[in-house]
Order: sequence, then C-alpha cells, then structure tokens
Amino acid sequence: MRRSVSSNTEIAAKASAILRRGGLVALPTETVYGLAADAENDDAVRRVFAVKGRPSTHPVIVHVADARTALDAGFAREVPEAARLLAAACWPGPLTLVLRRGARAHDVVTGGQDTVALRVPAHPLALAVLEAFGGGVAAPSANRFGHASPTTAAHVRTDLGEDVELVVDGGACGIGVESTIVDLSRETPVVLRPGGVPRERVAAILGRDVPLETSLSVRVPGSLATHYAPRAEVRIVERAEAEEKRKEGGEIFDAGVGDPDVVARQLYARLRDADARGIDVLLVVLPEGTAGLAEAVRDRLRRAAGMG
Ligand code: TXA
Ligand code: MG
Repeated sequence: MRRSVSSNTEIAAKASAILRRGGLVALPTETVYGLAADAENDDAVRRVFAVKGRPSTHPVIVHVADARTALDAGFAREVPEAARLLAAACWPGPLTLVLRRGARAHDVVTGGQDTVALRVPAHPLALAVLEAFGGGVAAPSANRFGHASPTTAAHVRTDLGEDVELVVDGGACGIGVESTIVDLSRETPVVLRPGGVPRERVAAILGRDVPLETSLSVRVPGSLATHYAPRAEVRIVERAEAEEKRKEGGEIFDAGVGDPDVVARQLYARLRDADARGIDVLLVVLPEGTAGLAEAVRDRLRRAAGMG
C-alpha cells in the first residue's frame, strides 16, 4: 500500500474548506505562523481573538494572495502611489501596509478604525491556501497574546493545542520575525513595527526617509510593554556585564554576534528554549546598527524585556 503524502494543492483545498465554513487554521508564513480565519466572517475572527486571548480592540492583518486583491478588491480605498511602489517591490514578502479601509474590511478586523493592515505573505503554502480561498484571511501570530511568536508548527501546537482545527506544517519560518508595518494612511509614511523588510529598504523604495514611530499607541499591541515575551525575565545588558555573569553561570543570549538575519530566524525559538529549560533570568545583549534585521531583533528583545 502506498502512504499518501498530501500535496500543497490538497492541503490548500482542505485549509480553504475549513476557512470557508468559519473554522480556524494555523498557517506558516515566511515571518511567523499565523492563526487564520475568513476576514469577512465576523464570528470566525472573534474566535481568533478568543483563542489568542487578545483584546478585541487590537486590529489584525488581512492576508491575501496578490497585490490586486489587497489594493483593488474592496479591502482598501484611496490607495496611494507609495502603496503600489512598495507592493510591487516587496510582495509577496514580509511587509504590511496600513491603508484607508474599504467596505470588505470589517470593524472586527480593524478594531473600528478607518484603516486596515494588508499583506501578501511569501510562503508557498500560505499562498496556495490564499489562492484556493480567494478572499482575505485575518491572521495574527498564532501564539497566546503577549507570548513569543511561533516559528514552527510545534510552537503552534504547544501554544494553541486543540483550539485550532488544522495546523499546516510548513517547517521553520525563514525570516523569523514579523512583517514590517508601514502606515500609509497619513500625510507621511511611518514604520509602526520594524520587521522582515529593513526600514532602509522601505526608505530606498519610496525615495524618502521613513521614521520609526515608537509611541505606545493601542493601535499596535506589539508596542505594549512585555510583548513577544517568554516566561523567563529578559534583562538587557552590555556585553562586558554578560561576560561577567556568564562566569557565574548566568544564562546569556548574545544577539549582537553573527548575521542579524540569522539571529532573527532563531530569535523566538531561542526565547522559547529558555522557558523549556526552566531559565528564570535571560541576560540579553542587543545587536547594534540598522543592517538587515538588526532593528527588528532589537525591537522584539526590548519589548520582551518590557522596555518597549
Ligand atoms: O508577519 C506578520 O505580520 C505576522 C504573520 C502571521 O503575517 N502577523 C502578525 O500579526 O504579526 P499580529 O496580529 O501578531 O500583529 C499585527 C500588527 C499588530 O501590531 C496590529 O496592531 C497591527 O498589526 N495592525 C493591524 N491593523 C492595523 C491598523 N489598521 N493600523 C495600525 N496597526 C495595525
Ligand atoms: Mg503577534
């Protein structure tokens, strides 16, 4: 007898059928795993909030299969030229655009705001599901609210267990930190969350400086203190202090050595591993500079330490 191995097409058909009837599916993306629901089914989106333990005022990102669906199919309105430039250069990829919302972006998705966050992810399985489904899929990271995001299917199962109908296993995420969120709904573009596309690249594409907005606004739950956090206390230290503490048996995570993109890929697994080993205090050295994903890694570690 032949053991059947599901093809991407079969997995996509199964996942999109679950989404269509209002079910929840955990999906791999190139950044982190998402907990997906039909963005136009309000009850399904409410279940995502319930499963995550996420406050209902915090808006979620709508994922779609292509730029046309994102920009010209009723999710957004008044799409500026900057959105088309960024979409052409970065999608599919780890970039989320905040635009004025269209009629297909419901209150439950936008938190009642007049804007919507949209993204076309680059993972082949996510794209296969989105293409089969056709519409928009609301998908926050597939972790309990406030915890480190999942970058493997095993992380999702540990966090959400029986609460999700299907976990699509796409292996370990290639980027490892969430998408860069660029707000284009105001006079000038700003980055609300540094992520998989370096801010310098966003600036180069738009031909202008794009500042990082670090306000503790409720519009970005990732900007609340102690987000993306393990159970262990994360304490930011200088390298010299870390070396001293290492001699005393302290647990050190030096995120300042090696390629920041590799550090990003392993970041959440590293934080989860500290918990799995029962570490109480994790001493962290931050990466410097803005090369590659250094800014995103620094942001997540500062938030994990409650220094958002
Ligand atoms: O890489 C990612 O973006 C992952 C994968 C699954 O795609 N998703 C993700 O979703 O990180 P979540 O829900 O964990 O974070 C979404 C972020 C939140 O900080 C939220 O406040 C922000 O997007 N957001 C959503 N809609 C927004 C809006 N209309 N205006 C400003 N921020 C918004
Ligand atoms: Mg999240």
